[in-house]
This record gives sequence, structure tokens and C-alpha cells, in this order.
Amino acid sequence: MYKSYYKYLHEEKCKEKYRQLQLDLDKNHIDFSTNDYLGLSKSKAVLLAAQSAGKEFGVGATGSRLLSGNKGLFQPFENKIAQDKKTEAALIFNSGFQANITVLSSLLDASVWGSRPMVFFDKLNHASLYQAVFLSHAELIRYQHNDMDHLSKLLTKHKDDKRPKFIVTETIFGMDGDIVPIDEIFTISKENESFLYLDEAHATGMIGHNGYGLSTHINLSEIPHLVLGTFSKALGCFGAYVACANILKEYLINKCPGFIYSTALSPMVIGAASKAWDLVRHYTTQRQNLYSKAKKLRAKLHHLGFNIGHSITHIIPIIIGNERHAIHLKEQLLKHRLVVSMVRPPTVPPGTSRLRIALNTSHSDEDLNYLVEILKQV
Ligand SMILES: Cc1ncc(COP(=O)(O)O)c(C=O)c1O
Repeated sequence: MYKSYYKYLHEEKCKEKYRQLQLDLDKNHIDFSTNDYLGLSKSKAVLLAAQSAGKEFGVGATGSRLLSGNKGLFQPFENKIAQDKKTEAALIFNSGFQANITVLSSLLDASVWGSRPMVFFDKLNHASLYQAVFLSHAELIRYQHNDMDHLSKLLTKHKDDKRPKFIVTETIFGMDGDIVPIDEIFTISKENESFLYLDEAHATGMIGHNGYGLSTHINLSEIPHLVLGTFSKALGCFGAYVACANILKEYLINKCPGFIYSTALSPMVIGAASKAWDLVRHYTTQRQNLYSKAKKLRAKLHHLGFNIGHSITHIIPIIIGNERHAIHLKEQLLKHRLVVSMVRPPTVPPGTSRLRIALNTSHSDEDLNYLVEILKQV
């Protein structure tokens, strides 16, 4: 009965694609793999907020939001998110992955539209966005990464097609550390009367007005829109939100299986995420320091001849190409107490296996110099 699974795993091993869980490493290691960019996962204030929410509301939410799970913490947090994201409403989901799948596929539901929507989609978007489009059976039209000319051309080509059009992109790209040209994509969306869906998983807490994401720089109310973000990266917690118009919040509550049929997030997580959300606006200096460190590191890596793509943020890829070489380099770094993520296809396009360096506020100049030194050696 298990034969097919063995075969699958064997093939993955042959293709150098086999994945294994990593052991948690001791404190002597310097961690460049975490998404805890602002160090909030261990913030005392955030931990205390989790504790006091647990005391008041319990560890578990005890039911979905539509049944017993709509504890008193949710609505005030959603109001706060909507205010900071400058949208009419917000709605909390259980994780970024789950939210993308259930929200985007619900928005694309052909039975609601009466036809199959068309999705203009950045090639390097996250797996959860791909999964959502596949699940919905919408028509997937991919444009070259961050290439606004290509996006415009594709929209023009399909301009006489009366079906609904969606544009889907990340804002800070999680594997590349570059950012979407937000003003341009907003204008393109407006001119082509299409729905703009933004994934701010890696941008939330890191960029935009008070750190609340790149969408805060555009006037979303002028176009149909939905912005998704997570509490799992810079906020150091878990869970996700969408920021959108009131009508969409109402639609999602009535339509998304991932919202209707899943127990709401733990009140402790909501308490923590809500506190982390409040703290983000006070981290301007930390963000500036992080970005200036990232800039220096990029310059050094570039000088050493590494291909770092188009990164302009705290996420810096070192694009190696060959999977085996990337694995080898990661292992060499680990021998020197340096922890980096190694990312390979299908997470990234074939031939672009890479090390992903994620800087966070705990990294010192010495840490970065040490990383550069070891990279030089190995
Ligand atoms: C762009 C993007 N969207 C969504 C997710 C999923 O978020 P979560 O980890 O909260 O499930 C990720 C996670 O890496 C991501 O990079």
C-alpha cells in the first residue's frame, strides 16, 4: 500500500529535492534563517500579552469565529489593523498559507462570477498563492517577475475579454528580497479595472507607513483590493489578516471554508499578535538600522562576486544555481556556526537554488563581518 510513497520519496532523493526537518540549534549559532525580523517572538511585552490573554480567555478559542470562538480580542484587533492598513475592514485567519488558499480561491470562485476569472500572476509568487489559483480553476496568466511592461502587455492582449481580472503579487518577495513597484501596479490595476490582491507576509512590520506594509503608500479605496499579511514573520507570532472593503469581509465570512470550518486562533496568539502589532510603529529606528546593515552586507557580497539578485531589503539571496552546490555551501556555513536557509526548486525557479540570508535586529556588525569572512573562505 505504501509503495507509491516510497517511490515518490526515492525520486525526490535522486533529484536532490528530499526535505528533512532541521534540529533546533543551540545559542552558539548565528541564525540567518529566522523570519523573526524584529525579534518580537521573544519580546517581554508580547509574551506578557499572550499570558494575560490566556488567563482571561483561555488557551483555545473553543470553536470557529461563527460559533463559540469569537472571543473579545478579535474585533478590536481587526479594527486596529483596518485603521493602520487604511482599509474599511480586516479579518483574521489562522495562518498565511491557509488564508491565501481559502481567501483567494473564494474570491476567484467561478460560480459566483458566472465565468472563470483571469489571474495575472507574478511568476515568483508564494506556493500558497499558486495553490489557491489551482484550487479555484481560474485561468492562470503568469507575468515575468516584477515586469510591469509584461503585465501591461498581457492585460492589453486580453482587454476585450469581459471576464473578471485579478492581479496577484507579493509586495516584499520572500525568496528574493526585492519589492513590487507599488505605484505602477496600482496604476495598471486601476487602468485595467482589475482587482489587486497583495500579499504582505514579509512586508508587514518591515516597510510602509509606520511599518504596516507597502499598501499604506497607495490609495486602495480607488480600486477593488484585498491585502493579506501575516503575524508569523516580523511580528514573531502566528496567524494572518486580510485588510479589505466591508463588503468583502462580509463575503469572506459567508464564503471561506477556511474561516467557517476552522477553530479560531488561540486567544494567547491573538493577545501576542495584537501587542506585537502595536509595537511595530515604535520600531522605526530598528528598521532603519536593519536596512542600513543589509545595504552594507549586499555591497560586500556583491564585491565578493556573489549573485544577490535584486534584493533591496533585509532578505538577501545568494543565488548559487546548482542544488548540490547550494547544499554544500549551507553545510559548510553550519560547520562555522552560521545558520542559513537553503532554498531550491520548486520553491524557486529551476537553476536558481540559493542560500537565503534573512537579517534581523539581533545581528551585530561582527556577525555580518563573520558571515562575509566565512563565505570568503568556503
Ligand atoms: C509570501 C508568503 N505568503 C504566505 C506565507 C504563509 O504564511 P504563514 O507562514 O503564516 O502560513 C508565506 C510564508 O512563508 C509567504 O512567504
